[in-house]
This record gives sequence, C-alpha cells and structure tokens, in this order.
Amino acid sequence: MEENDEYRPVGGGAEILRFARAASGDVMDEARRLLEAMVGYKELRMMYSCALKEVRTKFEVLNMEFNVRHRRNPISSINTRLKSNQSIMEKMRRRSVPFSLENLQKHIQDVAGVRVICSYVDDIYLLSETLLRQDDIALLARKDYIRHPKPNGYRSLHLIVRVPVFFADQKRELPVEVQIRTIAMDFWASLEHQMKYKQNIPEQEAIVEQLRLCAQRVSELDEEMMSIRSRIEAAKDNPSQDDVLLERLTHLEAPLD
Ligand code: GTP
Ligand code: MG
Repeated sequence: MEENDEYRPVGGGAEILRFARAASGDVMDEARRLLEAMVGYKELRMMYSCALKEVRTKFEVLNMEFNVRHRRNPISSINTRLKSNQSIMEKMRRRSVPFSLENLQKHIQDVAGVRVICSYVDDIYLLSETLLRQDDIALLARKDYIRHPKPNGYRSLHLIVRVPVFFADQKRELPVEVQIRTIAMDFWASLEHQMKYKQNIPEQEAIVEQLRLCAQRVSELDEEMMSIRSRIEAAKDNPSQDDVLLERLTHLEAPLD
C-alpha cells in the first residue's frame, strides 16, 4: 500500500492541524485554538518537569555534602512524578474549577511532586530546614503529619515550595510538592494506599483499624531506631581535629558520583 496522508499514523495534534487546514471560518479558528491550548499544556508540563529536576538536585546536593561531612546519607531515595493528565482533570473537577491553563497554575500545586525517603525522623526536619533556608526557595504551605498524624495514622512532612526555573528567554516560578518521610512511614503509606484504591474489600473496617495500630508501631519504631543511632554515635571516640580533617580528605578523594 502506498504511504499517503490518509494512512500515515498521526498524533492528536497533527490530526487537529489537518482538520483546521481543511476547515474554514469558525471551525478553523476553533481547531487552531485547541491546538494552541495543547501546545501550551505540553509546554507547561515540560516546565513542571524542569522544576522537579531543580528540587531533586537540591536534595542530591544536600545528601552529598552531608555524606562527605558526616559519612552518612540522610536520604535513602528520591522519587519524582508529574501528576497524570487524568488526575489533574479529576482534581479540578472535584474542586469545581473549570479547566484552563490559568486555573491549573492557580489551583493545582501538586503537578510536580518529589518524595524524599529518609532513614531517620530527625533527618526529615534537617532536610526540610536546610532546603527552606535556600534563598531561591519560597515556602507556600507546610503540613506536618508527623507531629500531627492523620486520623488513619498517615505520617509525612509535606511542603509546597516555589522554585525558580531559568529558560532561554524567561524565568518561571513553579510550585513543587515535597513529601519527606522515613522508610517505615513510606512502607506504611504504600500499603494504606493500596487499600484505599481497592473497592469492596471485605472486613475493610478491621483492616483500617489494623493499619492505625500499625502506624502507631511504625512511629515507635522510628523513635527507637533514632535513639539507637544516637547511642552508637555517642559511643564513638571523640576524634581529634586532625583526624576529622584526614577523614574528610579521604572521603573527598573517593569518586563523587
Ligand atoms: P490531594 O488532593 O490528594 O493532593 O490532597 P491535599 O491537597 O489535601 O494534600 P495532602 O497534603 O493532605 O496530601 C497530598 C498527598 O499526600 C496525597 O496525594 C498522597 O500522596 C499523600 N497522602 C495524604 N494523605 C494520605 C493518606 O492518608 N494515605 C496515603 N497513603 N497517602 C496520603
Ligand atoms: Mg496530591
């Protein structure tokens, strides 16, 4: 079969463009407006994706510096995600906000999301404070579900920060949702999440209660692990200034990435 326009696979945008060219008057204008909106939306997603990179890098830098200075990684892992198109639409519908690029930027602050997983609770606060001290970061919202857990037992520190991103001809300030939690809190949250999105689970009430009790134990475990770490650190010999310098040098000479 000959390749021609009719049979060549095309994306949604190319389809609309072809339609706009073939149409006339109002229909053509409407198709062009739709195409413009699609381009604008994709550009915006690209920008949120860049904001994610900026924030991820900030955490990676803090982790690397801490590792060199204290020979320990406060961060166990970092995950980033862009909210899916479907979740964006659903959230806007839930909040009765008509869909537009302006409304998306005004009302949805978790298009870009970074999840930072730590071993210890005190590292969560250390990381959050050091991030917020950076002079290009603005705090838009903070929810401390560790000091004030949700009734179901959910714990995590949530920040919405605004970060500048520099493009070729403009600087954009974009919101990023940061969730910082321990490995144990993350373990709990993924199981709880699974239950929330499964429908018609038999004995759901009993599972909810079991999860709540588990959250309590997770919280106790986090406290205990932190206290064991402090005891181990306190038991270490007090090194001389020279020893500390030598150790830092040894560490800096190791490959850095
Ligand atoms: P969203 O509409 O979900 O964004 O909630 P919100 O705007 O009230 O913000 P909140 O800070 O309470 O929660 C934001 C995100 O934290 C959620 O999208 C989840 O990723 C996580 N989260 C919050 N509460 C829970 C919970 O009870 N269980 C689990 N597993 N995750 C939660
Ligand atoms: Mg959310």
